[in-house]
Amino acid sequence: MSQRTLVLLKPDAVRRGLMGEIIGRIERKANWSITALELRTLDRATLEQHYGEHEGKPFYEPLVAFMESGPTAVMVVEGERVVEGVRALAGPTDPIAAAPGSIRGDFGTIVRENLVHASDSAESADREIKLFFPGRG
Ligand code: CMP
Repeated sequence: MSQRTLVLLKPDAVRRGLMGEIIGRIERKANWSITALELRTLDRATLEQHYGEHEGKPFYEPLVAFMESGPTAVMVVEGERVVEGVRALAGPTDPIAAAPGSIRGDFGTIVRENLVHASDSAESADREIKLFFPGRG
């Protein structure tokens, strides 16, 4: 089942020089391809929309500040079961709970600075792709 998903390599991943490592893991999966990729510093308006469901939570403001703190690699990945698949590669939100072998399990220690974002459903992916790549449908 071919799908699309929106993946962010967060500012901690870019700052730490982990883009190649993480992109390599995605590229090596069979039947997946990266169909859009751009490095950009996200603005507050975009982040407020992206993280709208978390507004008011204690971690919201520090999360937005962190996400504004430097460039993010924004990409669209397409292919076989990518929504579930990229989330499996990433591991759970808390990097300490994430198994070694996953991106967060291998490289993260802090919940906020957990290296990657991946859409949690096909519906979220459609919404997020429209937000980050307007015009791509
Ligand atoms: P993600 O799942 O990509 O999207 C929501 C983000 O909020 C999450 O990654 C973390 O970066 C951050 N986050 C979620 N829960 C917490 C928390 N309890 N403390 C700090 N940051 C959090």
